[in-house]
Amino acid sequence: MRNIIILGAQWGDEGKGKIVDVFSEKFDIVARYQGGHNAGHTVFIGDRKFVLKLIPSGILRPGKQAVIGNGLVIDPAALVAEMDSLEKAGLPVSGNLFISNRAHVLFPAHRMMEKMSEARPGRVSIGTTSRGIGPCYEDKTARRGIRVAELLDPETFRAKYDAVMEEKIAIAKALDISEELDLAGVYREYERIAERIRPMVCDTAVLLNDAIRQGKSVLFEGAQGTMLDIDHGTYPFVTSSSASAGGACTGTGVAPTRISAVIGVSKAYITRVGGGPFPTEVLDGAGDRIRQRGNEFGSVTGRPRRCGWFDIPLLRYTAAINGFDSLVVTKLDVLDEFDNIPVCVAYRSGKKEITAIPPTVAEMQQLEPVYECLPGWKVSTFGISSYEQLPAAAREYLEFLENRTGVEVGCISTGPERNQTIVKPGSRFQDLVR
Ligand code: IMP
Repeated sequence: MRNIIILGAQWGDEGKGKIVDVFSEKFDIVARYQGGHNAGHTVFIGDRKFVLKLIPSGILRPGKQAVIGNGLVIDPAALVAEMDSLEKAGLPVSGNLFISNRAHVLFPAHRMMEKMSEARPGRVSIGTTSRGIGPCYEDKTARRGIRVAELLDPETFRAKYDAVMEEKIAIAKALDISEELDLAGVYREYERIAERIRPMVCDTAVLLNDAIRQGKSVLFEGAQGTMLDIDHGTYPFVTSSSASAGGACTGTGVAPTRISAVIGVSKAYITRVGGGPFPTEVLDGAGDRIRQRGNEFGSVTGRPRRCGWFDIPLLRYTAAINGFDSLVVTKLDVLDEFDNIPVCVAYRSGKKEITAIPPTVAEMQQLEPVYECLPGWKVSTFGISSYEQLPAAAREYLEFLENRTGVEVGCISTGPERNQTIVKPGSRFQDLVR
């Protein structure tokens, strides 16, 4: 049995898309388990760039099956646009993509509700991706959401659509929202899309469990990152789904006993988009340098990402939540030009030094990072694909992260291309992706 979870160890955008793409070659199925088209997984193959939002990166490997699990919220228009762009690039989708009949359907009304909650006086603005993700999950949790299976059943869809939209209109009226929704137009569009996706819809929990029973291997692909997890992240500055390892089970219907390992993906530094606490954020020139060198602008929204130094207590926290067996460190080359590289090893909270992550935003915002400074390597590591070729100071930096986080660094990414990747010889990681 070899079924592993690959997920974000920070606030998302860690480079999971590339890592999943590189190692999906060794697996039979790649399955997404949460989130929606708020995610943006960028993959470069030669001079072609693919930004996948809903469809798992495994789709880029011919012959692999890609699964959209029950834990996702699906905007059908976004899904079809992505399918079209892949097919236009010569990558067949139909026959390779399987969509859960239990995933939830996202509607334009969800975007309207989100605009309202983000802009309303007295509400905390989260700085969301404005895709309607939160309100769609709200409907799911409130037990009034519409699932893919219901979208495909014309009678049920008609009845539920009318009931759900009636409620949205009542809320919009009560809150004085003037945005007009073309309810009939959306209904017709969704009916048309339903027919297009019908052949791909199935009980993906059955598909995955049958495949596992037959000895096939599954790679579970997380979206966002653990610090954006609805339970374990920096609430309320989080996304509305379970981005941590537990989400892989609830979001696909595969039991924890069928999962063999969890791999965390982290940048060699750290970034965050949107609002919320960020202890190691660097607001001066070094932050701008990281942003420019790392091209740290959102792949879905284009927003500049907030940048900062690697945070050991935060990584230890996400390692514990997820039980990381190995860590992938991405974008090492972005740090190539720095003379010194600070790494946060603890926080100062009042007079105390702590390493735990506090549960409230107010407490987190009080934290001051305690840094240890490591020497930079000042030579290019771009594209290096063997551990021995890394400059000594870069290896020492990685070993420092490994020792202080307590998780092996089994893989390092030194550029966006598939071959710009190092698998550390003798690591657990090498064993997991063999
Ligand atoms: P939402 O997921 O659109 O509701 O946004 C909630 C928070 O999660 C915001 O801070 C977003 O910037 C952040 N977020 C959502 N998806 C991603 C992602 O794929 N990468 C990084 N941040 C994300």
